Amino acid sequence: MSYALARTLLFRLDPEEAHDLGVGAARWLAGRAERCRLVRNFIARPSVRPVELMGLTFPTRVGLAAGLDKNAEAPLAWWAFGFGFAELGTVTPRPQSGKPKPRMFRVPARQALINRMGFNNQGARRVAERLAEQKAAGLRPAMPLLLSVGKNATTPNDRAAEDYNLAATSLAPHADVLTINVSSPNTPGLRALQNPQELTAIVRAVLEPAAGKPVLVKVAPELEGDLLRSVLDACLSAGATGFIATNTLAKQPGEPREDGGLSGQPLRQISRARVAEIRKHVGDNIPLIGCGGINDAESARAMLDAGADLIQLYTALVYQGPFLAAALSRVGFIPPHRSR
Ligand SMILES: Cc1cc2nc3c(=O)[nH]c(=O)nc-3n(C[C@H](O)[C@H](O)[C@H](O)COP(=O)(O)O)c2cc1C
Repeated sequence: MSYALARTLLFRLDPEEAHDLGVGAARWLAGRAERCRLVRNFIARPSVRPVELMGLTFPTRVGLAAGLDKNAEAPLAWWAFGFGFAELGTVTPRPQSGKPKPRMFRVPARQALINRMGFNNQGARRVAERLAEQKAAGLRPAMPLLLSVGKNATTPNDRAAEDYNLAATSLAPHADVLTINVSSPNTPGLRALQNPQELTAIVRAVLEPAAGKPVLVKVAPELEGDLLRSVLDACLSAGATGFIATNTLAKQPGEPREDGGLSGQPLRQISRARVAEIRKHVGDNIPLIGCGGINDAESARAMLDAGADLIQLYTALVYQGPFLAAALSRVGFIPPHRSR
């Protein structure tokens, strides 16, 4: 099925309207298990090569990155499109509307997006209810679901750990893995939490409700060198299981573009370099998910070669359509080694 026609139409719309239309279509698909099975088996046809990681089985190494399905509206649709896991959220304890629109921008010449959504989401309680409803209705996919937690914009940083604890408490029963987002550039002050002391408190605040489930920390691409290493050490000492690298690239002062996080191709090299840096520091046995600018077999393979166990997609889905995940699972880029 060609995505080209759909893209022509979608790209005539405002990017967020196109996104909402896409998620709406996914929600429709996810409403029926039989429909999803047909799409997965006859259209997406991912090459299932299960990977064991964190005590879970991932049908493929290619996952959906956080931020596309912020309210967990369509997990079964992501499975139908051929993903091997999905990260849902980021979800904050209380609902919030995010930044004023417009807040999502396409940069087609660079196959990139800029966004300053600001954690618009329906809040942890509603998202938890929805996940419970999906499970009761037999609409939970047969793949791991990662749930990303964040803090509300109005919560001061010295009370951030409470927000992470609240969101994790609601969502942990419905998650296979919890992920801590301290790396969005769009919540003022959030990235200041990326230091050993604050992260120790936040990881501990999430570990308790996680009750033995894995907890990953997602880092910004700008975090490097000594500070990155001290953050990694602090997270692991506090009990974190592993890491996701990376979130989007913040705007530099004076850079002539919209405010917000840059994703897609311009992020590719830096995310890959960060994955390599993390792998070198933490050694072979810590789970690590690579994310940023992956849009073809070569970039997927390069991220795995840099040291990622699993990879995630977001921006490339906008340019190439949702079946990219299945296509990448089929191209045989995945080496059989490194099953943690
Ligand atoms: C519109 C948009 C919204 C996003 N929202 C979130 C979010 O809520 N939580 C999060 O951890 N990452 C979020 N991200 C970051 C992505 O998960 C991913 O880390 C980043 O886009 C790099 O991957 P990509 O180049 O494949 O898009 C968002 C990205 C975009 C483009």
